[in-house]
Amino acid sequence: MQPKVHLWTLWSAVRASLAMAQLTFRLLCMAGAVVARSGNASQYQLDQWLKKLRVKGQDPKTHPPDPGQINVSRPSFATAPSICRFATADEYPIRSPMVVADYIISQTAGKSYVEVGTRQGDLFKCIQPYTRHAFAIEMEQNYCHALRRRGIQVACSTFETVADKLLLPVQVFFWFVWPPELSEGWIRRLWSLPRAVGETATVLVGFDGHIPEDMRFLPLLVAHYGGTVERIFFDEGGTVTSRTIPSYAHPQMWRPGRWGVIHVAKFELGAPQLKPLPAPLDVQMKLAIHTHVRTPWGWESHGWKAGEYVRA
Ligand SMILES: C[S@@+](CC[C@H](N)C(=O)[O-])C[C@H]1O[C@@H](n2cnc3c(N)ncnc32)[C@H](O)[C@@H]1O
Repeated sequence: MQPKVHLWTLWSAVRASLAMAQLTFRLLCMAGAVVARSGNASQYQLDQWLKKLRVKGQDPKTHPPDPGQINVSRPSFATAPSICRFATADEYPIRSPMVVADYIISQTAGKSYVEVGTRQGDLFKCIQPYTRHAFAIEMEQNYCHALRRRGIQVACSTFETVADKLLLPVQVFFWFVWPPELSEGWIRRLWSLPRAVGETATVLVGFDGHIPEDMRFLPLLVAHYGGTVERIFFDEGGTVTSRTIPSYAHPQMWRPGRWGVIHVAKFELGAPQLKPLPAPLDVQMKLAIHTHVRTPWGWESHGWKAGEYVRA
């Protein structure tokens, strides 16, 4: 009897250990999978990746991907040049980067279009041929003359004083103005226009990633009015130390070069209203976007003219 009991106890112990080992193995596998999914298991992921590649007979340690295979049209780290190929009257940062025109064309092709505040019309000149009909609204007389010399139709007045009947048929609006909170009143006006049922309008507003106030106001405006954001990466050049053009060593108007990101906020308006016009943003919150932001220059001296606030 004695050896039988002993053997049975031994067998039970072996089975228990096996079960424990199996459980531990399963737990380890589960933990591995969780860690892998969490993005922290770089070694685990790398091993999986290596395993897959080795199956195909390629070891990335000895055979890195062929750069030619990454992107045949242009390197993946380069921004694309604008389709606007003419000598511009202004340069960034006085005007928007020209690739912004390419984006606007993607939104306005075959539609009616208005640019509010055009300066000398570099973007407008590029966009106009792709639209069904386009005109500019510009409040500065000198720019109005320059625009007409370029054959651009312009309503030479402030946006605030342009008649509703000019704005009603417009399907796409674009502006890039200072100070950024000016945009709220303009969106409210366009939102409230008496559109016919079924008519829609798209509003595109540029914000420069280099301007602190722009970046502070953008989330307030977009979240409050239900917009979306497109980011446009651009590179129109720049130097390391120049004092005459924006450079890393001597940024001009916060720009350490003619490169960066323009954020375009997009709002879809229509009738019947998908949602009612929200209450205006809190005034104190809007004023706070300028807190602790000081510039040694006046924006107006660089042509960044502030318009007026409008009430919808
Ligand atoms: C920063 S520039 C932008 C020029 C051009 N849209 C661009 O993106 O390159 C702003 C322009 O808006 C014009 N502007 C400012 N407030 C305006 C208003 N209330 N009505 C019409 N134009 C205005 C200025 O005169 C200037 O030409």
